[in-house]
Amino acid sequence: MRRKIVVGNWKMNKTWEDARSLLMEINRFASTHKPKCLVIVAPPYPYLDRANDIFMHHVEVAAQNVSQFEKGAYTGEISAEILKSIGVKYVIIGHSERRTIHHETNEIIRDKVATALAHGLNPILCCGETLDQRVEEKHLDTVRAQIETMLDSVSSSQMQNIILAYEPVWAIGTGHTASPHQAQEMHELIRGILKEKYGDRIADETTILYGGSVNSGNADDLFAMPDIDGGLIGGASLNAGDFGSIINASCKHI
Ligand code: PGA
Repeated sequence: MRRKIVVGNWKMNKTWEDARSLLMEINRFASTHKPKCLVIVAPPYPYLDRANDIFMHHVEVAAQNVSQFEKGAYTGEISAEILKSIGVKYVIIGHSERRTIHHETNEIIRDKVATALAHGLNPILCCGETLDQRVEEKHLDTVRAQIETMLDSVSSSQMQNIILAYEPVWAIGTGHTASPHQAQEMHELIRGILKEKYGDRIADETTILYGGSVNSGNADDLFAMPDIDGGLIGGASLNAGDFGSIINASCKHI
């Protein structure tokens, strides 16, 4: 059985005072409800260590990015080795905001995956088409090309450490979520690509999250789809009540 997972991606939000309150609220929720799905929170870098202390064993933390380089003269970058050394286990790689604003290509993302895996981090690997690509009916080909390049040098055994996330760019932060049917169609395609490359067992065991305007009102319908194994949540993860409802929705479908 593949794991159901809910990831909160805080992006560049919250000063430490607000962040600490939210981390404590999420910790309280998780300690009380003991959700059966895996809950991961990705706060800004400076809070990772303190988030780990607050969460203890109930919730995991993820970094929002990692350098593709090993170490050295890369001012402002954070390596996989550094993240690992402070107890971080997960890292979001290939988010569409990194692709568009920071010009990350599928090849750079592939290198980030390689360094993350080499240091024992679990990548949460994002893909997704733009609105233009969907309107031109290129969405399936676009996502296939992203997945194939990003997983180019990933072996079957490494695949067990990867979580995939389908996030249509047009749905991120816009309030226009993909319909359960649109999301399921893409998740099925992604699982099919995994089947071609790694076989049935790996394809069946890989968690594929949906992200893009998930909220407490639409999470249940999305998570009810057979190939949607949880969510990568942006805006709604900044509020403990909303995030808790989304976690509960995910746990319902275990
Ligand atoms: P959103 O962001 O939930 O605010 O649309 C999702 C994401 O960017 O991961």
